[in-house]
Amino acid sequence: MYEVLTDYPLQSSNSFGIAARTRYAVEVRDEADLPLILADERFRGLPRRLLGGGSNVVLTGDFDGVTLLMRIGGRRKLGSGTGHSLVQAGAGEVWHDFVAWTICEGEPGLENLALIPGTVGAAPIQNIGAYGVELESRFERLRAFDTETGAFVELDRDACRFAYRDSLFKHEPGRYIVTSVTLRLPRPWQPVVGYPDLLRTFEGREGIRPSEVFAAVVGVRRRKLPDPAVTGNAGSFFKNPIVSASHYSTLAEAYPEIVGYPQPDGRVKLAAAWLIDRCGWKGQARGQAAVHDRHALVLVNRGGATAEEILDLARAIQESVAETFDVRLEPEPVIL
Ligand code: EPU
Repeated sequence: MYEVLTDYPLQSSNSFGIAARTRYAVEVRDEADLPLILADERFRGLPRRLLGGGSNVVLTGDFDGVTLLMRIGGRRKLGSGTGHSLVQAGAGEVWHDFVAWTICEGEPGLENLALIPGTVGAAPIQNIGAYGVELESRFERLRAFDTETGAFVELDRDACRFAYRDSLFKHEPGRYIVTSVTLRLPRPWQPVVGYPDLLRTFEGREGIRPSEVFAAVVGVRRRKLPDPAVTGNAGSFFKNPIVSASHYSTLAEAYPEIVGYPQPDGRVKLAAAWLIDRCGWKGQARGQAAVHDRHALVLVNRGGATAEEILDLARAIQESVAETFDVRLEPEPVIL
């Protein structure tokens, strides 16, 4: 049976480390409890939220409602088929621990996504991606409780409508509570090391092992990105914006060093980090909220930052990037 906590502090449940409280908190350890929790008399008429690792949210204040803390565990190998192998994990598993487990179990394919903060259940929500691999390319299906119909559903890749840092779940917030995720790992395994940061390590190498790619990704992230356990942050604060080919060529003429990645549809995805850096934001602060001094796309809490300070800083960055490049930056974390 689940336990209900009252006037619960969420500071250690969000990676920005914002001091917000929730009227009720419930740790969900078993999916069978979900229908009971949602029908619980104590929560009648109250708004509801779900937090996994809390690593992609900005909590803007105290919440007069019920916060579900996803804690469903479990990791399983489901065997292999032609050209793939399947692994599954409970939504509350820590993503990085799960990735490390797959490597130890001889089930590679997720190593480029090592050290991404957050839980397994949150991974499909924003379709996490790093170093040339997006979750959608390793996704088989997920199980979720549909709070609208009151039934458990299985959603495959098409049903999840994945796009760059986007999915069905961002468009129907609150409707689905993900309880487990099944990943499809391509066989035979092939290293994905074309991303500049990895190419430097692996260029010209043969016989690359999954554990080496895992270690390299962990190394790059540790060097560039702040550890949320030490310095509060939510990873990239903005999505990389996608502009038209003509907008890109105008920019590239004025700024030959601009970083852009051509998209299949002819448009160009710009490195938001470069745009922000170029506007001189690295290391700048608003109160206790600051732009990380080693990566311009990451906003950090230097200690005791409020959501207001973080959002003020974000707005100032958006304005300056819009003014300089005529590009609108969209925040990546969910602002609650
Ligand atoms: N750059 C700068 N200044 C900086 C940092 C980077 O000019 O301060 C330049 C780099 O030189 C590089 C470019 O910007 O040419 C891109 O930087 P990076 O390779 O670090 O990747 P990113 O586009 O900033 C994206 C993801 C990250 C993911 C990395 C690695 C988004 C919003 N972010 O960042 O994902 O780890 O690629 O694949 O797509 C996240 O989503 O939270 C996240 C951390």
